[in-house]
Amino acid sequence: MHKVKLGVLVSGRGSNLQAIIDNIEKGLLPAEIVIVISDQPDAYSLERARKHNIPAIHISEKEYRGKRDDYDAVLVTEFQKKNVELVCLAGFMRIITPTLIKAYPNRILNIHPALLPAFPGLHVQKAALDHGVKFSGCTVHFVDEGMDTGPIIIQAVVPILDNDTVDSLSERILRQEHKIYSRAIKLYAEGRLKTDGRRVLVIGGKTIADEFLLNP
Ligand code: GRF
Repeated sequence: MHKVKLGVLVSGRGSNLQAIIDNIEKGLLPAEIVIVISDQPDAYSLERARKHNIPAIHISEKEYRGKRDDYDAVLVTEFQKKNVELVCLAGFMRIITPTLIKAYPNRILNIHPALLPAFPGLHVQKAALDHGVKFSGCTVHFVDEGMDTGPIIIQAVVPILDNDTVDSLSERILRQEHKIYSRAIKLYAEGRLKTDGRRVLVIGGKTIADEFLLNP
């Protein structure tokens, strides 16, 4: 099967990147990470990638302060050099611009640690706890020009326990993130995602609901 070429954007520790690398190495994901780009020089993600012989570069955000489009144009150039087919944001802390979105329409994924459209933005595990919701979770979605607003591909639900702290909740959500990001990439790689307005439908085989019931 064709391996979809991934370009992964990161800023930090890279546990989602690691889960994707591990699933590829286990043969569970028909994908290949052809480049990892960080906006932070000391992101642990860069080390994780290099340990697996994945090209990993730092493009300094400092040089592009106030020039977000120029920064994204550099990202596009780097991705095109490597024939990237799908861009994955994995803890990338910058807002991306139409320059990147237009180069990869409906071909950019993001993982968010809440059940969108609830709790977009930052510090969302704390926001969910403070609000007193009983369930939170995580979402993989296509990226559009808004903040965490693009069509939703897959979500996982995580119950909130009375004794949860931000750390304990974040950790349980993260475990689900590591599963659903790879599942979404796999569905994309298999050509099974069909976007109909805001809805993303899964064509053929098991539906997301089936997969969730089989693999909660
Ligand atoms: C994750 O919680 C992800 O949902 C959010 O940023 C965090 C990145 O964590 N977008 P990691 O760098 O993948 O460990």
